[in-house]
Order: sequence, then C-alpha cells, then structure tokens
Amino acid sequence: MTVAESITATRHAFANGKFKPMLIGGEWVKAASGKTFESRNPATGDLLATVAEGDVEDINQAVAAARRAFEGPWSKAKPYERQQILLKLADLVEKHFDELSLLDTLDMGAPINRTRGTRRRVLGMLRWYAGMAVSIHGETIANSMPGEYVSYTLKEPVGVVGAIIPWNGPLGATVWKVGPALATGCTVVLKPAEEAPLTSLRLGELMLEAGVPPGVINIVPGYGETAGAALAAHADVDKIAFTGSHLTGQLIVKASAGNLKRVTLELGGKSPDIVFADADLGTAVPGAGMATFANSGQICSAGTRLFVEHKVYDEFVGRVAEFGKGLRVGNGVDPDTQIGPLVSEQQLGRVTDYLSIGRHEGAQPLVGGERLTEGPFAKGYFVPPTVFANVRDDMRIAQEEIFGPVISAIPFTDIEDVIRRGNATAFGLGSGVWTRNISKAHRVAKGLRAGSVWINCYQAMDPAVPFGGYKMSGYGRESGIQQMEEYLNVKAVWINAA
Ligand code: NAI
Ligand code: MG
Repeated sequence: MTVAESITATRHAFANGKFKPMLIGGEWVKAASGKTFESRNPATGDLLATVAEGDVEDINQAVAAARRAFEGPWSKAKPYERQQILLKLADLVEKHFDELSLLDTLDMGAPINRTRGTRRRVLGMLRWYAGMAVSIHGETIANSMPGEYVSYTLKEPVGVVGAIIPWNGPLGATVWKVGPALATGCTVVLKPAEEAPLTSLRLGELMLEAGVPPGVINIVPGYGETAGAALAAHADVDKIAFTGSHLTGQLIVKASAGNLKRVTLELGGKSPDIVFADADLGTAVPGAGMATFANSGQICSAGTRLFVEHKVYDEFVGRVAEFGKGLRVGNGVDPDTQIGPLVSEQQLGRVTDYLSIGRHEGAQPLVGGERLTEGPFAKGYFVPPTVFANVRDDMRIAQEEIFGPVISAIPFTDIEDVIRRGNATAFGLGSGVWTRNISKAHRVAKGLRAGSVWINCYQAMDPAVPFGGYKMSGYGRESGIQQMEEYLNVKAVWINAA
C-alpha cells in the first residue's frame, strides 16, 4: 500500500461550514426545536456544515405538507408532467454532477473516483424513472361472472412515503427513493442518515429548481432514534421505504403496526462469493477483492464470505491479499485513492471490534487487520483491505455483517456443499460465482437463496433490473418494474354492463 499524501480540505460551495436548513412544504426552515448537528469529513474531521436536527414536530409538519401536496394539484399532475420534472432533475443533476459527487466524497469518505463513477447509474436511474412515469398501466381482465361484467384495474400512488436512507451512497440512495415516488405520483418525507445528510439537502435545492411542487418532496435530517422513529411510526404515512441495518429494519416493521403501513426493506447481508478452481483467476482476483473492498466494504451486498475451492485456496487467497495490499488507501478527494475512510468513529469501532474478534476466533489476517493511524491517517477512520484466512463457517466474522473492507476466506470442495454453506446465513442479498463451467454457474445460481447472483462479475446494477433481499436481507425490490409496484396500489373496478 502506498501512503496517500495528506490533503487539505477541498473548498465546496455547499460544504462551507454554514447552517443547512431542512425542506418542508417547499420552504427551507430551521428545526422546530432550533437544534442542529454537525456533519464532518471522516477523512480529516473537518466540519462541513451544521444541519437542522429534525425531530417529532418537524416530522409531523413534513408529513402534513406531504399529505396536503398529495391531495392537492399533485394528484392531478399528468404522467407527462411528472416525467418532465424527472427529466429536468436529471439534467440538473448532470450539470452539477461533479459538485454532487464531491459532496458525497466529503460527507461520507468514498473515493472521488468511485463517486464520480456513479454518474451513469444516477442519471440512468432518473431517466429510467422518467420513462416509467408515462408507462404505468392497469389491466382489463376477463372474468367469469354471469352476465355482462367488465373488470379492469387502476394503478394508483400509494400516498405519503417515508424514505429512510443510509450514508453509504447518499446521492444514489436519495434518487433510488425519490425517483419512483415522482414517477408514480407519491409524495415523500425523506430522512437522510445523520452521518451524511448534505447531498440529499443539495438535491432538495435542485428538486425545487426542477419544478417539484411544494410539499411533494420534504427532507428532514436528524437522528434515527428521533426523526427516523417518528416517521416510521407516523399514522399518516402510507409506506416506509427503508434501507439500512436489519436491526433497524425490525424496529421499522414494529413501528408500522399502528396503521399497518406498507414497508419495503433493503437490509444488510453476508453475501457468499464462490470461486471455483476452473475460474479465470486473473479476473476473479480483482473481482472478488473489490466485491468486498469497494466503498471500504460499506455496501449491503458486499461479497464478504469468499468461498474458494480447496485446490486453489492458498494460491487464490494469497493473490487477493496481494491485490488488497496494492490498493491505495487515502483521503477520498485524492483522485488516486481507491479505498477511503470508514464513515464514522462508530463504524470504525464496529469494524475494529470484528478485526479483534476474528483474531480471537483463530482466523489469520494475511493482509491488513488493523486500523491505520500514522501520518495522513491520524485524523480519519482508516482501515486497510483485510483478508482473513482459516475462517470457519461458524465464526462470527463469517456470520455477521462487518460493513468494513474485510474478507473472510473459507475453503470448500464440493458444489452441493458450497451451495448449502453459502445459504447457511440469516441473510440473502447478493452472491457471486466465478467459473468457466456454465452448468456449475447455473446450478449455483439456482441453488443460492439471494436476491442477486453475479456470475463472473460482482455488483452489477441497472435501473431496470430488480434488486433486493431474501430472508433477513429484507423484502420488496428496488429498481425494475417491481419497484414501481411497491409505490402503487391496485384498484379493481367492476362495471355491470348488462
Ligand atoms: P441504521 O440502520 O441504524 O441506519 C440507517 C438509517 O436508519 C439512518 O437514516 C438512521 O438514522 C435510520 N434509523 C436508525 N434508527 C432508526 C429507528 N429506530 N427508526 C427509524 N429510522 C432509524 O444503520 P447504521 O447505524 O448507520 O449502521 C449500523 C450497521 O448497519 C452497519 O454497521 C451495517 O452493518 C448496517 N448498514 C447496512 C446498510 C445497508 O445498505 N444495508 C446501510 C447502513 C448500515
Ligand atoms: Mg444506527
């Protein structure tokens, strides 16, 4: 690993250290309590902004604004009008893309190369949702009622959506919730993560500029236990779209019981990435490495359980460790940085705890394994790529989501056995298979209980392709026409045409 030079804070028009209000009913306002919290750069500790800290009262106001907007002119907006807003927003995001991606980098630490690299995905999502806005349709259904009954369905927006997002990719996460809501005609109260609220707020400005009517999108930053919990429990919210940990997901489900609001959950994982001896190892080494190291492992579908066929286990795991060692760790604003800091002191604590748990369980770190503290790393939350060998299935580092750049490498011998062991986890989000043998690839793809299977690749995503979990990785799908259905109700209409 080469040590990145220390980089002084980059100037950014939005991350200027000033106060950032919240967006309610088309107005930028302070918190009802007047409280604020700080957002800091996890690479340097620099203050980026103080942010209005929403709580119950602000959530109540935002939900009321969203309800008024839902029942007001927005309910009459034609698909074409919603499409125009999404297209205009896409153009504005494109125009300001460098600014928005840098804001993500400053607020949550991801390398600028990575955040800039989301351009096609983010713009693609917005323009795909714009297409969806004019593609919503019900069905006429042949029925067998005696007489002359006609039956058809209407697709209608589900209503006020509470969107609760994490910090691991704020730009994409915001678009992933706001896009389908605008496409279907819902209204939104968005609660960004307390660790990285700035990009969502800047996007709020662009949404108003794009012509999003007052109250259609409201953005209330604040803590999960206060603002988030108030939104999840609110009796006038029709649906919660949540992305985050499975523990918070369980709280969201409990909080939904009061009004039985609809819930979709995109939660964590402990995804198996399976490498057969017949794979193209030259591609599989960086592929399997980045399946976990990308975004410092802070990706829900990271391929953190690396199953390697025993014949090539030592060679392959050694090569992944070498690959990890070669990655450049540093401040995300450096264009050469490949691995940025973890998002917060709390995440650093969680990840370093797992590093010592792994060692105590008898796993052997081939590379990494400890926090970096020297020189340019002193003020940030840096953990280098880590590969644990000698991992057994029952170790905690093979069962629990670490959310850091930590691979647990496990040998296997038999295809049926690796499918069974790959599934032996509470989660089922992502999974990977590396092989040149199409029959093996297909058998594993069918056998794994996970929402996505990547064959000879990892983490491929597209707005048109559904993404989501099995088991404790959650329910509901994002992207694809499946996501549209999550934001729509279906109404059956009957006509006695006799
Ligand atoms: P979290 O699930 O607590 O936070 C995600 C979002 O939920 C944030 O906006 C937070 O403010 C909100 N939230 C927290 N408590 C809430 C509550 N009681 N009611 C409503 N909203 C609430 O995740 P956190 O604390 O950031 O990270 C903890 C662990 O969760 C990580 O170490 C990682 O394992 C996992 N995680 C998974 C993510 C994913 O993409 N699946 C994203 C973030 C974290
Ligand atoms: Mg939390």
